[in-house]
Amino acid sequence: MDEHLTVGRAAELTGVTVRTLHHYDDIGLLRPSMRTPAGYRAYSADDVERLREVLAYRRLGFGLREIADLVDDPATDAAEHLRRLRGLLLEQRDRAAAMVAALDRELEARAMGIRMTPEEQLKAFGGQLYDAIGSAYPATRRTEPRIAGRIWAALGDARTVLNVGAGTGSYEPPDRDVTAVEPSAVMRAQRPQGAAPCVAATAERLPFEDQSFDAAMAVSTVHHWRDPVAGLREMRRVARRVVVFTYDAADTGGRQEFWLTRDYLPEFAGLLVGWPSLADLTHAIGGRAEPVLIPWDCADGFFEAYWRRPEAYLEDHVRRAVSVWTRVGRPAEQRAVGALRADLASGRWAERNRDLVALDAADLGLRLLIA
Ligand SMILES: C[S@@+](CC[C@H](N)C(=O)[O-])C[C@H]1O[C@@H](n2cnc3c(N)ncnc32)[C@H](O)[C@@H]1O
Repeated sequence: MDEHLTVGRAAELTGVTVRTLHHYDDIGLLRPSMRTPAGYRAYSADDVERLREVLAYRRLGFGLREIADLVDDPATDAAEHLRRLRGLLLEQRDRAAAMVAALDRELEARAMGIRMTPEEQLKAFGGQLYDAIGSAYPATRRTEPRIAGRIWAALGDARTVLNVGAGTGSYEPPDRDVTAVEPSAVMRAQRPQGAAPCVAATAERLPFEDQSFDAAMAVSTVHHWRDPVAGLREMRRVARRVVVFTYDAADTGGRQEFWLTRDYLPEFAGLLVGWPSLADLTHAIGGRAEPVLIPWDCADGFFEAYWRRPEAYLEDHVRRAVSVWTRVGRPAEQRAVGALRADLASGRWAERNRDLVALDAADLGLRLLIA
């Protein structure tokens, strides 16, 4: 009887009331399966696991009946619940970060006497991070031909291609039959006229039959997925070939350490906590990873793109087109930009990064996964 928790102790640890726990017992959602020596009900280790799932789904806003269906589903084991909950919580965090960013923008606008349109105000409540930040995307995000060349070569002779997390379609090969998948309405609306047809869906649940495409590609998007491994498995399911441009979150090893995160934005590391390793990602598609060096004059303004053009990070429109800045939050962003501005002015940045100026391309951890 050593591994058990009384109702009172469980309530104390979780911050819910004993009454709530009794209610869960009454409705059959969570019945403590043990008894203390004195005859009181107690939670076993398995009960505690279930309690944690119930409370986490509850905190995410699920109804009790819905939770009962979820936790009783025999096809979902404890690890799967943990992965799913983690993804849902990250999604909630991103949504909160996007809302904070939108509210900050509105406060700044008000301080300058500008009233935002009702449409702009409501965008902050969109379900997707990119519904809140996506309208800033096209300012600097476009096809980088040298990276596109690598992706298109990796697609081989594929004729039908699925582009997952397609955004505005920057890397869609013009000479193949492309279908795009994109969950954000704001991003879908910004696809150029004549772009490939685009389906509103997510990577984790691709609405296509097994093996219905010659190849599936995903560019700069996997780090946004609720469950990257599930999304990659889905790509593998629907396509014979898979090509993914993503980031290796592991320690830098031999590669260049990015000065922006090292010296100015250590909060970036917090965004990577729990992120699957490159080995997990490649394993999910059964493929290999190749380094992709970023040219010094990279045309696509993603986070690492301006590694040799540090002044670019001082530009608001450059930062707004990259989700990292929204995710770390305004205070961290302002501090990082202020410190960088000061170091550029004093010559400290140039002194510290003397070696970079001689490079035409840098390995900052971007990788092409090919299966
Ligand atoms: C940085 S953008 C990249 C867009 C495009 N692939 C490109 O390279 O320009 C990331 C995109 O991933 C999308 N996204 C977010 N969560 C997703 C998910 N679960 N499944 C598929 N796409 C997702 C976002 O809406 C956004 O359009």
